[in-house]
Amino acid sequence: MITARSAPNIALIKYWGNRSNNLRLPAADSLSMQLDGPCVEVTVESHETFSVPRDLQRFTTHFALVREYLRTLGIPNALPQAVRIGITSQIPSGIGLASSAAVFSALAEAYAAIISKTRPLSRKEISVIARLGSGSAARSVFGGFAALVAAGSGETIDSAYAILIAPKNHWLLYDVIIVPTQKEKSVGSTEGHALAHTSQLFTDRIANIPRRQQECIDAIMKRDFEKLQRVAEEDCANMHAVMQTSTPPLHYLSEETHRIIREIKELRTREHLPVLYTMDAGPTVHLICPEEAILKVQAFAQSQKGCKVFETQVGRGSFLL
Ligand code: DP6
Repeated sequence: MITARSAPNIALIKYWGNRSNNLRLPAADSLSMQLDGPCVEVTVESHETFSVPRDLQRFTTHFALVREYLRTLGIPNALPQAVRIGITSQIPSGIGLASSAAVFSALAEAYAAIISKTRPLSRKEISVIARLGSGSAARSVFGGFAALVAAGSGETIDSAYAILIAPKNHWLLYDVIIVPTQKEKSVGSTEGHALAHTSQLFTDRIANIPRRQQECIDAIMKRDFEKLQRVAEEDCANMHAVMQTSTPPLHYLSEETHRIIREIKELRTREHLPVLYTMDAGPTVHLICPEEAILKVQAFAQSQKGCKVFETQVGRGSFLL
């Protein structure tokens, strides 16, 4: 039995919308910071029938896509006909903390370990396998800061993959995660991606991503926190504007989210704190900061009544146990 571990990532430039929904080929590039927790462990072993503790349809479809990808690599029999998957997760589901990224990057890592008996895979190839289950999972195959490269016109199964922008030890950043509610979200990301193009703001968003992606890469390379804050908050606001103007509109942020943002903005102005906020597809607020701000950001998060708080920092990505 193979066991792999991973954790979520937090997007600084968000992935929202596909050019192929079936193959999870994103409409644009995205970029994230890998977190060191909360962790997910995935086990895989050969089995007569395909078995998984949840989302049978999604995992079966993913398995079929992975086998199709292996055919294109010329190693069609590198995975068995069926597998049994086990999942142990510390992540509450449906709260906008990308548990699918952690699960599918760990699963890709475990599949790759089995496949490696036929032929070892590169990190890029493992990221393609992760992407076929969840787009953002491709980025979690790498530690540190990773981009999902999707630009271009390719429509083949390997036309989008992740690359490393900077390793974990390049920049010590923290992500203090404030979860205001554990209520399941009504529309999952997969369904949401399929609605993105119905927003009138979507074309403009896609046109602006190359600029923002480059600014984000520059900010990371120079460890320029002010620049990172500007571009990450701009992109987050823009993605939520697209979501809110799609048909039907998707409102992932709650009153609590808006209150937390208001308060952190006041705090950072008052105390000149380097801290940025960002939210994925849920009301959860991620407060990202360098070491000098961590104690104050933690104190702020702990003072939020009725919220669950996760204190994380840059992590190492998926790996085998
Ligand atoms: C808002 O990767 O969760 O978190 O491929 O359907 O699993 P699926 O989508 P997913 O989408 C991520 C959306 C996001 C932004 C991001 O992480 O880039």
